[in-house]
Amino acid sequence: MSQMQIWETYRSLTRDSSVKKRGIRNGTVNRVLEYAKPLKKDILLLIAIVVIDAFLVVAQPLLFKRIIDDGITAGNKNIVITTAIYVGVLAILSAGLSIIGRLYSSRIGEGLILTLRTQVFNHVQAQPIAFFTRTQTGSLISRVNGDVIGAQQAFTSTLSGIISNGISLIIVLSTMIILSWQITLTSLILLPVFLIPAKWMGKRVQSLSREQMTLNAEMSQTMTERFNVSGALLVKLFGDPILEGSSFSKKASRVKDIGVRIAMTNMVFFVALTTVATIATAIVYGFGGSLVISGDLTLGTLLALTALLARLYGPLTSLSNVRVDIMTALVSFERVFEVLDLQPLVKDSSSPQKFVEGPLDIEFKNVSFYYPSRADVGLESLELASDGKLENDTKNTVLNHISFKVSSGTMLALVGPSGSGKTTISQLIARLYDPTEGQVLVGNSDIKNVLRTDIKNNIGVVTQDSHLFHDTIENNLLYAKKGASEEEIWSALSSAQIADFVKSLPDKLDTIVGDRGYRLSGGEKQRIAIARVFLKQPRIVILDEATAHLDNENEAAVQVALATVLQGRTSVVIAHRLSTIINAEQIAVIKEGKLIAIGNHNELLKTNEVYSDLYNQQFVS
Ligand SMILES: Nc1ncnc2c1ncn2[C@@H]1O[C@H](COP(=O)(O)OP(=O)(O)O)[C@@H](O)[C@H]1O
Ligand SMILES: [Mg+2]
Repeated sequence: MSQMQIWETYRSLTRDSSVKKRGIRNGTVNRVLEYAKPLKKDILLLIAIVVIDAFLVVAQPLLFKRIIDDGITAGNKNIVITTAIYVGVLAILSAGLSIIGRLYSSRIGEGLILTLRTQVFNHVQAQPIAFFTRTQTGSLISRVNGDVIGAQQAFTSTLSGIISNGISLIIVLSTMIILSWQITLTSLILLPVFLIPAKWMGKRVQSLSREQMTLNAEMSQTMTERFNVSGALLVKLFGDPILEGSSFSKKASRVKDIGVRIAMTNMVFFVALTTVATIATAIVYGFGGSLVISGDLTLGTLLALTALLARLYGPLTSLSNVRVDIMTALVSFERVFEVLDLQPLVKDSSSPQKFVEGPLDIEFKNVSFYYPSRADVGLESLELASDGKLENDTKNTVLNHISFKVSSGTMLALVGPSGSGKTTISQLIARLYDPTEGQVLVGNSDIKNVLRTDIKNNIGVVTQDSHLFHDTIENNLLYAKKGASEEEIWSALSSAQIADFVKSLPDKLDTIVGDRGYRLSGGEKQRIAIARVFLKQPRIVILDEATAHLDNENEAAVQVALATVLQGRTSVVIAHRLSTIINAEQIAVIKEGKLIAIGNHNELLKTNEVYSDLYNQQFVS
């Protein structure tokens, strides 16, 4: 057997055979075929190449038989030379075909990856925020990358593997039987001797590799947690480096042990395969050699048979595992389809309305809300924590029958203890979630009936920790308004009180900021975020504790910027300091998800205990 065939057999036998027990949903096969349809031409060509190649594989031993029997033994130089030339030409042909075959199989595979990957990306992008708060980024990315590639590999290697092995097997076996059925039978005797231990070892490698993968994942998780800035800081301040080191080395030494065992099992597997194949050849030579001496077989036939034998075991063993191969392919596809079938919780209406012109008001009509449960959001498999367990899933009512109205151009301030539901209210206005009960109206339209892009374009949000992409300041701003002019950008920056700072940077607008970029202070970051809102010119502004993380000096600058952004706009403001909201037209006091009072500062101070308590706490301290 050739190295490549052994390798293929190895790959096939070490696949996770538990997939056989898994049921495949109805329609999966048809759906996979749908993806194959646009690639039909390439696939047919690949099949044609594989078939021709299989014939060439048999042709070579037969030509050798001719050289020996009709050429050398018969003393015919002519035949020897012409047949030798044929062999050479065939070799070149076969090489060319393999290269073209690879071209087509990779084109099919990569084409499939492209389609699946872009589909998954776009679909995940369309998911509501609830999906992202629940899923683990790691498993999500592995779904977009790993499973898509798994599906592709399974598709191309299984497809070409099954076809080429099936065809070679038929051609090789029938040629051998025609040449000598006795020798063919003899050579097959060893097959079970070879298959049974091979399968057993395949299973063993499989479970060892699984363990190895888990351990490697644990090891890299330890490293990603410890070697990022916040993790490293935690270790420096609280951790015990000796303990950390010994726990890491324990994991690493288990990885080592398994590595050695896998290497040994692999070696035994390869050596056993090659040895069995060699013994089979020896048997054929022994038995066939006697037949040649007794004149029942020609020498050329014997040589052709041994050459064919080498091409028999590979396809046979690979095909013995064909069910696992096909199931593995289908399971990868199914995992990708699972993501593609997720129904987003927040969807655009099929008959969307447009917002009215002019300033927009906001109204909550009897709104109740709880955060969607795991089952509502979708994929359990993407939510698994690192220990493989799911967190508890309870449905707590977060908002309880809330109604209020914010007239256009006025400010509503939300106050209340931490965890009372203020942020949740602001998220419902931006339609990050839909209320469980009741309606959120903006400009008199239920926002469920307004296109999400329309909502996004009309609402500007600044939160505690504004996120900037790892990109230039300019691109971070353009994210809010594509195609904004340089003049608009500078005007937004100066309204946000940050223009002078940006001018002072060596690269100005081209300064890279974000996770790995220039480290902006909290206040600078907030003002860039506010500039982003200015650029968008939304009709509604939501501020959620936008100055909470800032020191006094920074806060003063941000306050000026915020006052400007609020001018003339309808706004909902959650502030950690009551001093900022005293001028709001309305103040809503939220406690445990309920609206317990609404009014202006003076009214509430007199009539509402929760509010007066909050007020006193903030100013006494
Ligand atoms: N993504 C979420 N999933 C489940 N529960 C959440 C989520 N976000 C917030 N909560 C819960 O909802 C309640 C209200 O939270 P929040 O609106 O953030 O309060 P506030 O902004 O007033 O501090 C809290 O009990 C909080 O634990
Ligand atoms: Mg909050």
